[in-house]
Amino acid sequence: MRQTQRLTANEAGLADAAEILRRGGLVAFPTETVYGLGADATDAQAVAGIYAAKERPSFNPLISHLDSFESAQEQGVFDETARRLAEAFWPGPLTLVVPVAPGCTISDLARAGLDSVGLRVPAHPLAHALLQKIGRPVAAPSANRSGRVSPTDADHVLGDLDGRIDAVLDGGPSQVGVESTIVACISGTPRLLRPGGIPREAIETLIGMRLEGGPEGGKSPLAPGMLASHYAPRAKVRLNAARVEADEAVLLFGEKAPVGTETARIALNLSKNGDLVEAAAHLFSYLRQLDASGAATIAVSPIPETGLGEAITDRLRRAAAER
Ligand code: TXA
Ligand code: MG
Repeated sequence: MRQTQRLTANEAGLADAAEILRRGGLVAFPTETVYGLGADATDAQAVAGIYAAKERPSFNPLISHLDSFESAQEQGVFDETARRLAEAFWPGPLTLVVPVAPGCTISDLARAGLDSVGLRVPAHPLAHALLQKIGRPVAAPSANRSGRVSPTDADHVLGDLDGRIDAVLDGGPSQVGVESTIVACISGTPRLLRPGGIPREAIETLIGMRLEGGPEGGKSPLAPGMLASHYAPRAKVRLNAARVEADEAVLLFGEKAPVGTETARIALNLSKNGDLVEAAAHLFSYLRQLDASGAATIAVSPIPETGLGEAITDRLRRAAAER
């Protein structure tokens, strides 16, 4: 067991976080999507610590975080499409998978031995300040144990990883609430590897073409590690519920509640107005709360698959998959 420090979001906390990362430690930090479990991406031993703390299968490549597009271009090769996407959506909830640049310093382990690399410039001010301070790429998957729901605040991180990591930088709740959209720009048509915080439509409009790959990614994984059963609460998850059985937990969306909701053990509404942005921000913390109620099943109202709804329903399908 290690002693896990909770660091405050100020200059001293940032300095401590950077120092721990520099000497090869593990620091969870806030991003606008979810909290990441960070390690110096150039230090294979530090990266190995991430896999160990998360109990994550080591064939799964990690996203490396950078302070700017300029820094990202030292690590990866950006074709015309990748450059346009980076300029439009960075800093922000987009990850680009691109070919490794000749001078890439990101360890093989963080890339899981692939000749491509996943890069992201996050928009969260604390993440940005930390990345600038350390001046190196920081590998960071979501700061949860493998297979569990992603954390959107420091308490979630400690619930999963207390005693397994050196520190968590507490920046309050994450704003976006689902992970970044992952687009691969490797050769030919860009592919959507994972729906996320930037809607597919916004990307397709910008580049003027359709992305390959879609919400069926769970059945035939495009990104290694996109296992169908993932983001799993303890309770069973039942999607598109038209009615609710007594004592189930319910995750609602919009004004219309399924028949029987009044007999539920607990009901939480992702967004009463049917706002998908608000719904994404609540998704993971509501799943945790419903799970903590002890209900055997979480029934979920139908949710549209447009805009951020694609990422939300993707995560819920994974939570509902057989395991
Ligand atoms: O919002 C996010 O993206 C969060 C925050 C912390 O930035 N991070 C995150 O990282 O979700 P992670 O490691 O949980 O998700 C990484 C995903 C995996 O599905 C992995 O397979 C894919 O990115 N990935 C990373 N590098 C890749 C590569 N070279 N080729 C294909 N897929 C890659
Ligand atoms: Mg994750």
